[in-house]
Amino acid sequence: MEYSIWDKDFSAWIIAARSNQVTKKKVYKRKLMKKEIVLFRNNDGVVSALKDQCPHKGLPLSQGKMRDGNIVCGYHGMSFNGSGSCVNAPCLSTDETCPSTKVDSYTVKEQDGWVWFFWGNDQEVLAEGPPSFPQDKKFRWFELEKQIKAQPHFILENSFDCTHACFVHKTFFRDGPVQMANAELEETDYGMRVKTTEEDGRKVRITKYLPWKAKEVFHTDEYFKPFTAYVNYHFGLGKHRIILTCSPEDEDTTRVFTRTGVQAGIFSGLAAFILRWLTPVIIAEDVAAIEGQSHSYRTLGGRYQELRNADVPAIWMFSIYRRFFEKRPTGDKRPKSVTYKL
Ligand code: FES
Ligand SMILES: [Fe+2]
Repeated sequence: MEYSIWDKDFSAWIIAARSNQVTKKKVYKRKLMKKEIVLFRNNDGVVSALKDQCPHKGLPLSQGKMRDGNIVCGYHGMSFNGSGSCVNAPCLSTDETCPSTKVDSYTVKEQDGWVWFFWGNDQEVLAEGPPSFPQDKKFRWFELEKQIKAQPHFILENSFDCTHACFVHKTFFRDGPVQMANAELEETDYGMRVKTTEEDGRKVRITKYLPWKAKEVFHTDEYFKPFTAYVNYHFGLGKHRIILTCSPEDEDTTRVFTRTGVQAGIFSGLAAFILRWLTPVIIAEDVAAIEGQSHSYRTLGGRYQELRNADVPAIWMFSIYRRFFEKRPTGDKRPKSVTYKL
């Protein structure tokens, strides 16, 4: 079923961009929470976000240029600084001054290589700052970004829905369920955690590609309210992490930022090289499933039915997500253990 966040009053830090997408040279344009925004850096390297509209005659500021840390509008050359104030208007007579109207500005904060945008009014959430997902130096990291035609919960739930791997990712991950898996679920103050363990890692297709025997295979998947999933895989010697965070654009579209890390001893470089190529293929498989699911509920209505043990982790995540947006209390779920074939 589709769940809308658009009529909800909530506060959150939402990813706006990767740090390297925002420069002093070029204006970076994004749509986020139905707002058209521009991001840029001033000469000191500080990132700012403004509404993408010149207060003079409405040209999108994203059609302008950067000069000396300010945006110069492409229509009549007025310049605006990071707080949205006009600092230069070239076509004034000698008795005129710069317009006093400011461009709407938004609160952004750069942290761990991402630029986060503050949405809402809750001063506590503002003061807490964005969630922190530093890049562990022992891992090789790469970043990807994808626009998906679905609401965030379908995308996040996918990270907690393991059995889809047997069908959606049968080429690379696993060709059908091969053995029993156990999932231990626990609600946390930030969301939830689920540890999924398989009896024998050697039965999993992906481990056949590894240059070592991964007898032990498990993964810990965490949900950080409201828009982030953090997946940690352990394949014997190797570790693979994916931080996936959703940035809602509008009722149809979510932009997803992923940060993937791999650690595999002397094979780390090779593993990162292969995964850098493979991950977009895997993501495309997920996107096809998620967009299909979203389209079907949007056009035909309906709701989840016939849920089984394997669906419990994703349903927990969805319920914690809903309670976040509905400001309903969380933290009352008892730890749970479920078994299913994977
Ligand atoms: S519209 Fe931007 S300077 Fe005129
Ligand atoms: Fe998937």
